[in-house]
Amino acid sequence: VRTIGVLTSGGDAPGMNACIRAVVRAGRYYGYRMVGVNRGYHGLLRGEINELTAGKVSGILSRGGTFMMTARSKTFPTEEGIKSAARMAKVFGIDVLVVIGGDGSFKGAQKLAHVGLPVIGIPGTIDNDVASTEYTIGYDTAMNTAMECIDKIRDTASSHERCSVIEVMGREAGYLALNVGMSSGAEVILLPEIETDFDRDVIKVILECRNMGKNHYVVVVAEGVGNSVQIAKRIEEITGIESRATILGHLQRGGSPSIRDRQTACFMGMKAVECVNEGRLNRIIAERGGKCVDLDIDEALNMKKSIARDEILGAKIIAF
Ligand code: F6P
Repeated sequence: VRTIGVLTSGGDAPGMNACIRAVVRAGRYYGYRMVGVNRGYHGLLRGEINELTAGKVSGILSRGGTFMMTARSKTFPTEEGIKSAARMAKVFGIDVLVVIGGDGSFKGAQKLAHVGLPVIGIPGTIDNDVASTEYTIGYDTAMNTAMECIDKIRDTASSHERCSVIEVMGREAGYLALNVGMSSGAEVILLPEIETDFDRDVIKVILECRNMGKNHYVVVVAEGVGNSVQIAKRIEEITGIESRATILGHLQRGGSPSIRDRQTACFMGMKAVECVNEGRLNRIIAERGGKCVDLDIDEALNMKKSIARDEILGAKIIAF
């Protein structure tokens, strides 16, 4: 291996820049030529590939987003797209490609590996929904951002004695919603992983809260659950408590990464280059048992993870 390429793919996440920096600096330390692919797989197909010097990644550690930009390519995952992308990597002399992204990006990386372009995946997504790892870069920052927003919404909700339905990102997974909900003292948390009886789990809880003298009712809804505006409407219709829906949206993806995300990005970035240097290719970097490890890509992508039932129960017990 002489040249390592790096790209960010899928939704951006705070800490991606810190991770690119770590990959580039570690790669240069071991004597590799480092190149960056702009705009993820979309840019790879178009040959948007440039040399990355130590200077080019200077001053980016604390910046949110990804300075190399990212994209969700529709043409890349096709058979033709994968072959073209692997060919383009060859044209620019890329021997190994480091992909920073989520599950979808890893599936693309796996396909590249199968057509002969070695890859290393680093988990970066605010959703924390990558099965092979306990933690994904960006998750902590997004949780903190969402929690701060909910604290603010609660101030106005209590002043007006309203119910606030707050939609949190996470695609099909409820990790973000569960932990943000628990940490901001939400009265109700709705997750896609859990079936809800609306009358028992939402209406009754809100009315019991009112009866015990509460003047705010925060309902955190994971985006995978469905329409939060409709949920707020139903709550108002049934309880008579004025309700508002707030979709936190892309706010949650921005901002300077927390120390947890910067540290994880640094360790995972270094680990990726160590793997290349030790000849361990087609790996996924993961955090398991608090340690940074690397796993075979095919095995990693076959893994499943789900929210622990006791975490959900715990959040429910202390909700009100
Ligand atoms: O995967 C990260 C994420 O922010 C999800 O939580 C969300 O469902 C999705 O990306 C939104 O994607 P986009 O920015 O393309 O609308």
